Amino acid sequence: MTYALPIFDPAGESTPGESMPPRAPDDATRSNALFDAYGRVIRDLRLSVTDRCNYRCIYCMDPDHRYLPKQQLLSVDQYLTIARVCADLGVRKVRVTGGEPTLYPHLQTLLEGLGRLPFDDVAMTTNGSLLTADRAARWRAAGLHRITMSLDSLRADRVAAITRQSVDATTVTRAIAVAREAGFDPIKVNAVVMRSINDDELADFADFAREYEIDMRLIEWMPLDSGRTWDRERVVTADEMLAAIRARHDLVPLGRDDAHGTSLNFGFPGGSRGRLGIIASVTRPFCGACSRLRTTADGKVRPCLFSHEEWNLRPLLRRHADDDEITRFLVDAMWTKQAGHGIGDATFAPPARGMSAIGG
Ligand code: 5AD
Ligand code: SF4
Repeated sequence: MTYALPIFDPAGESTPGESMPPRAPDDATRSNALFDAYGRVIRDLRLSVTDRCNYRCIYCMDPDHRYLPKQQLLSVDQYLTIARVCADLGVRKVRVTGGEPTLYPHLQTLLEGLGRLPFDDVAMTTNGSLLTADRAARWRAAGLHRITMSLDSLRADRVAAITRQSVDATTVTRAIAVAREAGFDPIKVNAVVMRSINDDELADFADFAREYEIDMRLIEWMPLDSGRTWDRERVVTADEMLAAIRARHDLVPLGRDDAHGTSLNFGFPGGSRGRLGIIASVTRPFCGACSRLRTTADGKVRPCLFSHEEWNLRPLLRRHADDDEITRFLVDAMWTKQAGHGIGDATFAPPARGMSAIGG
């Protein structure tokens, strides 16, 4: 079953107050780096290249979700311009996201372009459904270092219910084998954990990580679904996840990957290379260590996943603005990065765009 691609323009092209960021103070431009008003240095670009997806995961997209008009999406050269200017500004990692980035027609050209830029790490988040041995090998040759996939249940009926598609868990176990064969290492697999949906599988996910020797990442559900169905009561907290897993497994705490790492990592005693990572975005926010900048498929700069403001870079890209002008735009935009997501605040309101239109 496939979905038609309806067209919808949620915010219009030039909503007042939604295009140019305010000027940052002069000291924001002193060094050739991107940083924000709280002193955080931006080293990690999340580049969304499409808002389309062949799934409709219940925690992400509502079934009637409307896509951005095609004519508003950037060209491959424009995505690469963003990446190049970011690399010049000290950004060291890029992650290609969607929607589902493997639906993007120029993905191979994009990865080849990213592979030529001076990034330490080029990664991609995908649902894994469209991975083939041939594509994986070509992405790897282009310079893609790491792949993260999604698998929210180990039970066929649940995978279909969560993705609202006729897929099952073997889609991802096959994709893991394909990615491994192509040389991707480590391979990460994301599961968004929701109460009464898949929280009885936590210890099974740990078994899965051990058996397949992957990094299984268990994610607290964030209020970023386009259908606005997020419900605090259905967030399974990191503490609850750990208690459920420890009922079956001994876990060896490994800490975070680095100072900017989002996941609390655990290994297993006895030699499996598998690991667990708990991403507690809601109950243990890591905003203070955030080094990320997000750009959407239609060229909006989002300083934070939860930003209410987004800055429209597309007009500059369309008129072939020079690198200095794009640099200034990015410096100004990142100066507006908010301190944190504030999900715990009484006044919290989710952003207008859902995850699939922002990029994971
Ligand atoms: N909360 C937490 N994680 C989410 N993802 C998508 N929507 C949400 C949400 N509302 C994650 C999925 C996917 C990645 C792109 O983002 O794990 O793999
Ligand atoms: Fe698609 Fe990913 Fe959102 Fe699922 S989580 S609907 S696979 S963009």
